[in-house]
Amino acid sequence: METLNRLTAQATADIQACVDSNDLEQLRVQYLGKKGLITELMKQLGTVPPEQRPQLGALINEAKEIVQGLLQDRKILLSENLLIEQLRREQVDVSLPGRQVARGGLHPITQTLQRIQNFFHQLGFSTVEGPEVEDDYHNFEALNIPAHHPARAMHDTFYMKDAQGCYDAQGCYFDAKRLLRTHTSPVQIRTMKKGQPPFRMICPGRVYRCDSDITHTPMFHQVEGLWVDKNISFADLKGILAAFLRFFFEKELEVRFRPSYFPFTEPSAEVDVQCVACEGRGCRICSHTGWLEVLGCGMVHPKVFEHTGVDATYTGLAFGLGVERFTMLRYGVSDLRHFFENDLKFLSQF
Ligand code: DAH
Repeated sequence: METLNRLTAQATADIQACVDSNDLEQLRVQYLGKKGLITELMKQLGTVPPEQRPQLGALINEAKEIVQGLLQDRKILLSENLLIEQLRREQVDVSLPGRQVARGGLHPITQTLQRIQNFFHQLGFSTVEGPEVEDDYHNFEALNIPAHHPARAMHDTFYMKDAQGCYDAQGCYFDAKRLLRTHTSPVQIRTMKKGQPPFRMICPGRVYRCDSDITHTPMFHQVEGLWVDKNISFADLKGILAAFLRFFFEKELEVRFRPSYFPFTEPSAEVDVQCVACEGRGCRICSHTGWLEVLGCGMVHPKVFEHTGVDATYTGLAFGLGVERFTMLRYGVSDLRHFFENDLKFLSQF
C-alpha cells in the first residue's frame, strides 16, 4: 500500500517534469511496460493472502489508470507545444518581396516581322507562306533567272541529292532539283500561279545561303511583297515603301531610289534610307555616306507574268527586304550572329 502510493506520486512527478516525447515513452515503459514497476506489483499479487487480493488488485488498477491518464495528457500537451514551437520557428515574413518569375518575350526578329506585317496588313496586304524546301523552277527559272545566269552566283545555296520530283502538301509539283530557297520571291510565283489577280500579299519567312560572317548567317529572314492590279505604277511602289520605312523606323527619314537590276523586275531599284543612326550626317554605320541600303524592289517583269499566266493588262510592284538588317538598324545591333545564339543576356534586352 505504502509502496503503491509512493510509486504513484513518483510517476506523477516524473511525468509532469517530462518535456520530451521520447523521455515520456521511456516513462511509460518504466511504469507500465511488461517489466514496468506497476506491472511488477500486479505480478506480485499472487504472493498476498487471498482475502487481501481483490482490494489490493483494485488499488493497483486504479494507480495504473491514473498513470495512464497522466501519460496521455502529457503526450497531448507535448505535441501541442511542439507544434507551437514549430510554428514559431518556421514563421514566414509575408512582407518580403516574392521571388521573381522570369517573363518570356518575343524574339527581336519576331518583333520586327510583326511590325512589318502590322504595317502592310493596314494597307490590305495579306500574309502568305511558301515552302522553305523549294525547287529550281520556282526559286530561279520562273523568276527569270535561267541556269548559268550570273545572278545565281549570288544565290549559292544548299541542294538536295534526290533525283525525283514530288508533290507538296498543297499539290504543287516540285521538280527534281530541290534546294533550300535563297529568297522569298518564289512565293510570288506560287501565289500568282494558284489564283487570279488582283494580288496583294506579303510573304515573311526563312531563307538560306552559303554565307557566314558578321553580317551573314546561312539562314536568315526576308519579307517579300507583291501587289498586282490594273494601273499599279512605280509611284505606288515609291509611296508605299517610303511610308513603310518612316513607319518602321519612327522617323521622318529621307528615302531615295537608285536604279538597280533584278531579273524578275523591270525597272528595278534599290532603296536607301537616310542613316537611322546619324540622320544623314555620316557615321560608322552608314560608312560615312549618310545613307543605308535597305531593300530591293521593282515592277514585276513581263517574263514573270508570262510564267505565271497573268495577262498583260495587269501591272505589279514587288519588293524584298532582309528582316535581320531591319532589326539591327532599329535596335543598333552590330553583329547579326547574336540573333541566333540564344544568349538570354542579349535577348532579354528586347
Ligand atoms: N529576292 C531578292 C533577293 O533576295 C530581293 C528582291 C529584290 C525581291 C527585288 C523583290 C524585288 O521582290 O522586287 O536578293
